[in-house]
Amino acid sequence: MKLWQGRFSKDTARIFDEFNASIMVDINLFEYDVMGSVAHVKMLSKCDIIPEDEGKLIVNTLYEILNDFKEGKIEFDMSDEDVHMLIEKELIKRIGQVGKKVHTARSRNDQVVLDERLFCREKNLYLQELIKNLIDTIIKLAEENIDTIMPGFTHLQKAQPVLFSHYILAYAQMLKRDLLRFRQNFISINLNPLGSAALAGTTFDIDRFFVADQLEFDGVTENSIDTVSDRDFILEMLFNIAMLQMHLSRLAEDFIIFNTDEFRFIELDDAFCSGSSIMPQKKNPDALELIRGKTGRTFGNLIGLLTVLKALPLSYNKDMQEDKEFLFDSIDTAEKSLIIVNEILKTLKVNKENMLLACKSGFINATDLADYLVTKGVAFRDAHFVVGNIVKYCIENNKSLEELSTEEFKRFCDKIEEDVFKFISLENCIKRRKSYGATSPELVKKQIENLKEFLRAYE
Ligand code: ARG
Repeated sequence: MKLWQGRFSKDTARIFDEFNASIMVDINLFEYDVMGSVAHVKMLSKCDIIPEDEGKLIVNTLYEILNDFKEGKIEFDMSDEDVHMLIEKELIKRIGQVGKKVHTARSRNDQVVLDERLFCREKNLYLQELIKNLIDTIIKLAEENIDTIMPGFTHLQKAQPVLFSHYILAYAQMLKRDLLRFRQNFISINLNPLGSAALAGTTFDIDRFFVADQLEFDGVTENSIDTVSDRDFILEMLFNIAMLQMHLSRLAEDFIIFNTDEFRFIELDDAFCSGSSIMPQKKNPDALELIRGKTGRTFGNLIGLLTVLKALPLSYNKDMQEDKEFLFDSIDTAEKSLIIVNEILKTLKVNKENMLLACKSGFINATDLADYLVTKGVAFRDAHFVVGNIVKYCIENNKSLEELSTEEFKRFCDKIEEDVFKFISLENCIKRRKSYGATSPELVKKQIENLKEFLRAYE
């Protein structure tokens, strides 16, 4: 018999039971549901809504149930409908009448949001930890490569030389913003919704602040109708994860390219690659491909829940039950992605020589040659044109800029002197880029310092 059977004169359809049940998904909330019920029951007895000894019995039994659940001793199936019903049924099975009091002054509508808030809070903090660890790994990689020169790209064409440390720190900056977004999200998560009941609050003289204290919430929600309708904190989480995954997918793509035989800038560790069933020579970057690929589902989860909530009338509607699959899936994806990317960065090999070699072609110092002309009094736009001509000449004669003689240079502009070669050397191209945030070693060191300080001060 269902806990809400009273009003019904016949059984629900089997196919509807399956359709209606969320237990296979929300079973993940078991522990949070118990913690929430414990706090609720303690409040009920503190407020003399149920006798103290009964409160204690319920609380102790809830802990026993949780224990049994962890040991895999709680059986459940579709007919249990959802995790809230399962736990209440189990309680009543064990302590009879007293167990039937647990749901006083509460509805599943505020109960489910409570569970979700507790769940999101824990996951939010864990994701923040994982992001911090990843930033840390990137900083270490940057420190090991403080002098490693590579081509920087725009349009995936060689553009200007940069330090590999500078390049990889770009991802640390994205992750720093991600981290701050998760911290912001924590504020909307960490409020107590319990006591909103079905939608209108309750007639019992409850103490929502007491529950908030017990569960270490920073406050209580302000409007019971909003509270049972609100999934903004989940949407924020889904957005933050989508954005995070978008960042990770770009990193994945970069490293997939850098790992190719064409580039050979890095070599991924065997532990994160797979072989081919037909081509014996293959070592494919599957882990990174999956980071890139799984990003799609996190976008889908965000759009999915936004769509569920769009135009939904106040307050609670069963549509909202759909929120959990999106949430669990995104969190699971983000956790695994962060851990795997971290391991990949820790274990990959950086081929400094190949990065440097790649800078020798592609006229990567052409901007610097134009800048050189500017130092000799040529206006930048004219300098740009002259260097364009020089590059064309080099292509026709299969030479790089530094392979030209001073005489050849002078044919294009008589202001070019012997000192040009030093000026356009890769090391000097890098060293001279000293505008704040640029790629010179001293500014990259500054960037690392700032990031370290950010992490130190972060709590
Ligand atoms: N399983 C439901 C959910 O996840 C719990 C709330 C059910 N509330 C209700 N009035 N039927 O949303």
